[in-house]
Amino acid sequence: MFRVDLRSDTVTKPSKEMRRVMAEAEVGDDVFAEDPTVRALEERVADLLGKEAGIFVPSGTMANQLALAVNAETGCEIFCSEKAHIFNYEAAATSVIARAQLWPMAGDRGVFSPEEVEARIRPKDHHFPPSRIIEIENTTNGGGGFIWPLDTIAGHRKLADEHGMFIHMDGARLWNAAAESGVEEHVWASYADTVSVCFSKGLGAPIGSMVAGTKEFINEAHRWRKRLGGGMRQAGIVAAGALYAIENNRQLLRDDHARAKRLADELNKYDVIEVDMDGVQTNILWLSFQDESALEMMDKLAERGVGTIAFDKHRMRLVTHLDVDDAGIDEALQIFHEIISART
Ligand SMILES: Cc1ncc(COP(=O)(O)O)c(C=O)c1O
Repeated sequence: MFRVDLRSDTVTKPSKEMRRVMAEAEVGDDVFAEDPTVRALEERVADLLGKEAGIFVPSGTMANQLALAVNAETGCEIFCSEKAHIFNYEAAATSVIARAQLWPMAGDRGVFSPEEVEARIRPKDHHFPPSRIIEIENTTNGGGGFIWPLDTIAGHRKLADEHGMFIHMDGARLWNAAAESGVEEHVWASYADTVSVCFSKGLGAPIGSMVAGTKEFINEAHRWRKRLGGGMRQAGIVAAGALYAIENNRQLLRDDHARAKRLADELNKYDVIEVDMDGVQTNILWLSFQDESALEMMDKLAERGVGTIAFDKHRMRLVTHLDVDDAGIDEALQIFHEIISART
C-alpha cells in the first residue's frame, strides 16, 4: 500500500525465513497445553523477563487486560498515564473486563511520578474505590517512544509495596527500551508484578503477545484467556514466528532507533515542524505542526506513497521498524521536503 510505511511498527510483514520456521513448527493443542512451540516461547520469554511463567495471547490488548483483570477487584482504581494505551486505545476494556476505573495522570511524555500517584491514593473508606494497580507503559507509545527512568519505576515499586498495590508494565515495546538503554528486560520487569510484551511490533512477528508473572497469576490468567475466547489450538505456528523474532530481530531495534533520530534531526529543521528532540529515544517520534497542517500533510504524504498518522491537525506520529531501511528514510525525507517547499 505505502512504499515507506511509517504509520506503525505493527505493519511489518514476516520475512521468508520467519515464514519457513513457522511452516515447519511442531504443534499440538495449546488449550490442552500440548503445543511444544508455544511452551518453548512461554518459557523463553518468562526467562528473559525473570518471571516464573508466561501465557501466550493473540494481542497486546489481551495481554494487558488479562493482567488487569486478574489483579483488579471489581470497582477498584488503576493509575496510568493519560497517554496510556489502556486509557486511549483499548475501547474501555479496563472498565468492561477488569471492572475497574482508570485514573489517568498528566505526567510528562507518558511518564508520571510516584508523588503524583501518592497524592491520589484513596483513604480506606467505603466512599472510595480501592487504589489497586499502577500501570507503567515502557516505552511510552503516546509519549513518543520514551523510556521510563529506572529510578522513577523503582519509586513506584516502593509506593506500591507500602500500599499493597500491584504494578503492571505494558511492555509492548520493552524490547526497544532494553535495546536502547542496555538495561536488560528482566531488570525492567523486576519492578513489576506482571509484564506484557508484544512480538508483532518492532520484532516483526505477524501475531502474538505474552503476559508474564508468578505461576499463581498465570493460572488465573489462563481462566481469563479462556473466558475471553483467547485459547488457541495449534498456535505453535504463530509462536514459532515470535520465537524467531526474539532470537533474530531484537538486536536490530537499535537501527530503527537511529533511523527515528535521523528523521527527527532532519524534520526539526523546518520552521513549520517541531520535534521534542530530547524525547526521541527509540522508534517513535511525534511531530507538531505549527500551522495546523498535520492532517493535510498526512494526505499529501500518502498520495506520494509515505504512510504516517496525524492524530489531529497539529500532531503526527512516525514509527520506524524492520521494513523501513535507510533508503526508505531518505525517500520519506525527500518527499517531506518537496511537499513543504511547494507550500512556502
Ligand atoms: C503500548 C501498547 N500497548 C498495547 C498495545 C496493544 O497491542 P495490540 O494491538 O496487539 O492489541 C499497543 C498497540 O499498538 C501499544 O502500542
